[in-house]
Amino acid sequence: MSDHRPQRVRVERRPVSESESRHANGPDWDRYADEYQSTHGEFLGDIGFVWGPEGLTEEEAGVLGDVRDRDVLEVGSGAGQCSRWVRTQGGRAVGLDLSHRQLQHSRRIDLETGVVVPSVRGTATALPFADGSFDVVFSSFGALQFVSDLDRAVAETARVLRPGGRYAFSITHPTRWMFPDHPGEEGLTATQSYWDRRPYVEIDDASGEVSYVEHHRTLGDWVRVLADHGFTITDLLEPTWPEGHDRVWGGWSEVRGRFTPGTAIFGARRGPAGV
Ligand SMILES: C[S@@+](CC[C@H](N)C(=O)[O-])C[C@H]1O[C@@H](n2cnc3c(N)ncnc32)[C@H](O)[C@@H]1O
Repeated sequence: MSDHRPQRVRVERRPVSESESRHANGPDWDRYADEYQSTHGEFLGDIGFVWGPEGLTEEEAGVLGDVRDRDVLEVGSGAGQCSRWVRTQGGRAVGLDLSHRQLQHSRRIDLETGVVVPSVRGTATALPFADGSFDVVFSSFGALQFVSDLDRAVAETARVLRPGGRYAFSITHPTRWMFPDHPGEEGLTATQSYWDRRPYVEIDDASGEVSYVEHHRTLGDWVRVLADHGFTITDLLEPTWPEGHDRVWGGWSEVRGRFTPGTAIFGARRGPAGV
């Protein structure tokens, strides 16, 4: 599922612990951050909230609801583009990311735009905030598919959210894991089991160490983990590929986007329905 291959690696599908995932993905995002921002920064917009490669914006989707005067946390905030947009809408957004280099880009854009996103280095599985600190927590392709201990990450989100608070996140659409991660025609033929939850693992040829990990869960797994932590699901968006949008992002492309969803966006609320 990777959209980058920074060094010579061997690919495996096998279980990986939370600490192994973190110790691989932090340095991987540090190495990749400059290329990620120079390749995708313009599409993301310095002050812009897109939910994924289809280009669906939060302004169009409205998954977070009105963020004005809300305390908002972005987990896996990268260079903080989404949080910066939230700030321009009157929300008090803060960012958290595992990668120091991504956060340096965030700081660079803060200074360039004058819209500052206070940010902290940390992991989704141990949020450094008091219980009930936020009205909204979100991730745009941030963190969740990079953690092994998803249960802990969702528990942490529930802990820092106030009752009734909103939770929204985008991930690679789980059905994409059935296909080769290729933007062309060969990415349209199912070759892998949808139910194979073994993570995608890159192992660095030179060191023999795990250098990058992505974790796969089925749609049912996502529903279950949200329900287990007291969330009510309010939305599941599967953005269509816009007519004439010819940008390729890793395995996302017009060729595949015409047939299969590439992104899933979950919206949820902390607490029972109707409360
Ligand atoms: C695909 S980028 C998305 C960043 C940003 N939301 C965007 O749209 O550009 C994924 C981000 O998740 C971060 N990340 C990976 N594992 C994480 C973890 N365990 N906790 C917090 N952030 C993590 C990476 O450092 C990276 O910045």
